[in-house]
Amino acid sequence: MTTRRTIAPEELDTLDLADPRLHAEADLSAVWRHLRQRRPVHRNPATDTAPAFWVVTRHADVTAVYRDSVRFTSEGGNVLETLLAGGDTAARRMLPVTDGEKHAGLRRVLMSAFSPRALEPIVVSVRRTVQRLLEEALDRGSCDFAADVAARIPLGAICDLLGVPDRDRAHVLSLTSSALGSHDADSTPADAWIAKNEILLYFAELARDRRDSGHADVIALLAGSEVNGLPLDDDEIMLTCYSLILGGDETARLAMAGAALALLEHPGQWQALKSGDAPIDTAVEEILRWTTPALHAGRTATTDTEIGGHPVRAGDIVTVWNASANHDELVFDAPGELRLDRTPNKHVTFAYGPHFCLGAHLARAELGAVLAGLRDLVAEMEQTGPARPVHSNFLSGSGVLPLTLKAA
Ligand code: HEM
Repeated sequence: MTTRRTIAPEELDTLDLADPRLHAEADLSAVWRHLRQRRPVHRNPATDTAPAFWVVTRHADVTAVYRDSVRFTSEGGNVLETLLAGGDTAARRMLPVTDGEKHAGLRRVLMSAFSPRALEPIVVSVRRTVQRLLEEALDRGSCDFAADVAARIPLGAICDLLGVPDRDRAHVLSLTSSALGSHDADSTPADAWIAKNEILLYFAELARDRRDSGHADVIALLAGSEVNGLPLDDDEIMLTCYSLILGGDETARLAMAGAALALLEHPGQWQALKSGDAPIDTAVEEILRWTTPALHAGRTATTDTEIGGHPVRAGDIVTVWNASANHDELVFDAPGELRLDRTPNKHVTFAYGPHFCLGAHLARAELGAVLAGLRDLVAEMEQTGPARPVHSNFLSGSGVLPLTLKAA
């Protein structure tokens, strides 16, 4: 029930791949295929308001750029939105837009909170939440899967990680949806800006409270740690907290709603999941490949160099497209088919190399809980209205997914 206009490769020279509408409304798979085969390093031309940027589409080139944060830095921004606006104000203070020793040091501190062992209590609570949300949806018989199930899982897990007190959670939730809902028709950029600043202030205050507090959450961990011999200041802590919400809320929601949509659109695969022919672990990886919630990442070339033999100049903006690399015929057999038992599955949905997603284990656990919940609790699902795509050049998936469900 998703009908999207197919864009033909001939239209390529008139396209602006930074245009959010294009990603929300069109099917670009033929364009990506053409680019991989004919122009693997394509130049998206400058517009009246934004500079040109390189578009890298082959899996091998995408991973080569991700791997090399010396030649391709994230410190000028790591998504088109900031790169095209001239930079990221959080550079060198927030993990995803910091490179070198500072990045490695900050990541080392955070890794202890993101190991599978440390995350176990949070994963247990995620499974309970998923079960409750699915049971509530089954009792009602219908739901908007994106809003009523998917949207209510990741932020709770992030609040658990950060030790956000129960009394503040509704407030953080509502600020987050205003701050990040800028691709929602109802919210203005000014609302989003105010909400983002309120979230940052909230976390700065929490960081001050947690210094020497004896708490065991990520904020207390950051407040009590040093990176390369220096303590983190309140700004760095609040930006790190914000990066967890930025990186881990909407991406994970979109993967979960995308999972339900993929199963609705592929009844054979739904059966394979239900019968156990497709194990949860491989199904999680294939859903991550299939949905690719983060369409691209961006870097700035630090020196005159090359990508796949193609010259790139120092200062150029380079974007790598996970959406294309995850369908590269040189890496994936029949990439246009959803195969929940696909193995190996070398998708780049969580990127690759030094900035590989810190929350990958948590995201996999969340998605696994949803797939297992659907398999065990739901007999039948039917889509009852159109899925509404988010409008973004960075995020991809459905913000609305109405369906009916029958209990197993
Ligand atoms: C990094 C995707 C879930 C936190 C990244 C990157 C991608 C990504 C592509 C690399 C960005 C770059 O190289 O510039 C996703 C997807 C998710 C997901 C598709 C869900 C399906 C999460 C979760 C969290 C999280 C649940 C935390 C709660 C982060 C952080 C980074 C990151 C902190 C920065 C790592 C670094 O720079 O070293 N993620 N992510 N992500 N992600 Fe995720």
